[in-house]
Amino acid sequence: MWMGEGNFTYRPLSMRSSAAVSAQPVTRAPRTTKHPLLLYLAPPAAALCYPLVLALFHLSVTHASSWWMALRAPLLLAAIVEPVPGIYAYWRLGAEESPSPTQVRAKVLALLSVGAPPLYTALGVVLTMAHNVVSDLAVWPVIWAAATALLLGWQARTSTTEPLAKPRLLPRLRYAHGISAAVIVCIFLAMHLINHLAGLWSEAAHRMLMGAFRHVYRAGVVEPVLVALLMFQVVSGPFLVWQYARRSVDLMRTLQIASGVYLLFFVPAHMNSVFIYARAVAGIPTDWNFATGAPTGILLDAWNIRLLPHYLLGVFFVLTHLVLGARVIALAHDSGRRTADRLALTGIALAATVSIAIMLGMVGVHLGPRAPLPAHTTATSRLNTSLQTQDDLALRSRQ
Ligand code: HEM
Repeated sequence: MWMGEGNFTYRPLSMRSSAAVSAQPVTRAPRTTKHPLLLYLAPPAAALCYPLVLALFHLSVTHASSWWMALRAPLLLAAIVEPVPGIYAYWRLGAEESPSPTQVRAKVLALLSVGAPPLYTALGVVLTMAHNVVSDLAVWPVIWAAATALLLGWQARTSTTEPLAKPRLLPRLRYAHGISAAVIVCIFLAMHLINHLAGLWSEAAHRMLMGAFRHVYRAGVVEPVLVALLMFQVVSGPFLVWQYARRSVDLMRTLQIASGVYLLFFVPAHMNSVFIYARAVAGIPTDWNFATGAPTGILLDAWNIRLLPHYLLGVFFVLTHLVLGARVIALAHDSGRRTADRLALTGIALAATVSIAIMLGMVGVHLGPRAPLPAHTTATSRLNTSLQTQDDLALRSRQ
């Protein structure tokens, strides 16, 4: 077990009774002594613009003119890096040892903006389930304007610049969070990601592995445990994040917090799509066709395009979050900061590689042979096609 930690003073197990070893992180951001408006507003602005960037990327994919084609890569990149302003702002504001209430709220807003891709997907799914009474493009700006006004505007008038007391550290909860994560990886996540990675080889390989893995994670005793553990992660996560609301954090800790916050939105959004929308409401098989938005696919459909950053970052952040959790354990076991940081950076690079590989498979890049699929596997695709003609269920893949 690792020791509690605060303000980047790691206490290896071998030094429990001695004075703490102060290791100044090289990744500490410069202090933000002023109230730089840009730092406060860039994260919600990035979230606000996200659907627009996605729509432009979709246009660039569906239009063959050289002008649009030249814009494809920059627009895709702009959509994928949506969480970056939020992560940067949190890191800069996180350099403050004793942030003011306004700075704490700006940190909360920055973290909320990191979750924009799964939030936008969830909004689309929920509105689909509500028969699109209102457009997601109309609701989205209202959400971000309200969040920004609440956190930075209205509240700010009542606040002072006085620093606040530090929240309690929660070492036991953090330990339980880590154990629960390890169980989730063993009973589900490792299989799930290997399963999706197999899609890069071929759809048939993905389907074959899914058939085998479902015997484990969909088993009567396993599935409820998995759901309960995921709910525990989602509920315990905000308490763990709050520990750092008024503590200074370095870049590694910032990444751990930001990746956790992304999952805070991704996990419920994804489970709502799979369990409630697909299985309970629409009654469609949650297979390859569902995941890839067949028959139109992820790239060519104006709604499905949101699944690209949503999934890509989902895989990247879940692996990054695990890697950074392992880094904290390594530090507590005397590994040394340089070694731990190098391992973490290697892990993050691997996370990026795996997420890109999975996404390539999902958008139709396959390294394996093209094998004919059994007839029943095209059923979802046909169902999607027929349902797309119905007004009440504009069904594509709502993840
Ligand atoms: C490229 C990324 C991903 C895709 C395309 C994807 C897609 C899917 C699909 C199609 C299912 C239904 C599986 C089945 O019917 O057996 C599913 C289930 C699920 N996924 Fe994902 N997923 C992705 C990433 C993730 C990540 C990162 C997490 C967790 C953090 C996650 C958590 C879950 C859970 C909890 C279920 C329900 C499992 C069950 O049926 O009991 N997924 N996902």
